Amino acid sequence: MEVKRAKITSVGHYLPEDRMTNKDLEKLVDTNDEWIRTRTGIEERRILKDPDKATAFMGAEAAKEVLKNRGISAEEIDLIILATVTPDYLFPATACLVQKKIGAKNAFAFDLSAACSGFLYALSTGAMYIESGRAKKVLVIGTDKMSSILDMTDRTTCILFGDGAGAVLLEESEDGTGIIDQKHYTDGDSECSLYQPAGGSRNPASEETVAKGMHYLQQDGRAVFKKATMGMADVSLEIMERNDLDPEEVAWLVPHQANLRIIDATARRMGLSNEKVMININKYGNTTAATIPLCLYDWKDKLNHGDNIILAAFGGGFTWGAIYLTWGMK
Ligand code: ACO
Repeated sequence: MEVKRAKITSVGHYLPEDRMTNKDLEKLVDTNDEWIRTRTGIEERRILKDPDKATAFMGAEAAKEVLKNRGISAEEIDLIILATVTPDYLFPATACLVQKKIGAKNAFAFDLSAACSGFLYALSTGAMYIESGRAKKVLVIGTDKMSSILDMTDRTTCILFGDGAGAVLLEESEDGTGIIDQKHYTDGDSECSLYQPAGGSRNPASEETVAKGMHYLQQDGRAVFKKATMGMADVSLEIMERNDLDPEEVAWLVPHQANLRIIDATARRMGLSNEKVMININKYGNTTAATIPLCLYDWKDKLNHGDNIILAAFGGGFTWGAIYLTWGMK
């Protein structure tokens, strides 16, 4: 039986207009531009300030750009998979809100929660719907309004994140390019290293949870840093080895943008020079599920048909993984 392969046929994005620089953060917490740049690589991030707009809005805007660039109508979409840790509501799924906003009335839609690995998990899942022939056009969206869960008085977390969305369309490949291999891991042992303690069924929202700031993201930065550095590098190397890829055969690494030092360590382990690594953390910070599609969007004009590309991510859970694909757009 002929094996179908899924490929990315369009890319879209949304970034809020408002920028928050490191200098702006100096006015809020005891930090400084130099510390943030050297420890993280971040110079500024975008913040969605309009209180009437949230994660679904950004995801829908990115999706609309995907459809426009591909020249298709929303009604042609069979499935929407949306990765986020900042859903508009606990339910219904943010994917349902996006389905309505873009008018994808023939699509079924669901959210996928895998923190910073969310986009990679969603891309793998979407690819399998294409490979099995159960869907022809799948929208995969990564969107997060991280500013909605940040404690802007906590300097150890508020400097790291930003808001944004990215999206891609997956369709069956007719030229052999597309998603070739994927490897994902989970280690559920570390739930409290990086999490939002309240608002779910474990600690429903109450005066007490709000007073204690339990609805904000909390993390053990050093523990996450160590695990992320190891996890992202190991899985990237693993996917190179099992596909017999030498460093010179890899055209691009698309790493989750959490910290420039984690990205550098991953590239070093893979034997890749800096020019082959997509980095935009300086402009957007960590947008969680949106980092990888935002990189693909920013670099799309530099990518050549057939380029070997490795996507890699690490996030809360812990979750991590890598995808090997060949670029299929002209
Ligand atoms: N400004 C100034 N000083 C600060 C700040 C700040 N914003 N934040 C912490 N410090 C201080 C600390 O208090 C500490 O001071 P001390 O030595 O007097 O105690 C000192 O700086 C060093 O703190 P560390 O936590 O050791 O700093 P580190 O070099 O580990 O950097 C960071 C911290 C940037 C959070 C890093 O650990 C990191 O990036 N971890 C990964 C976290 C992450 O990216 N999570 C996102 C989700 S997961 C993912 O996407 C991979």
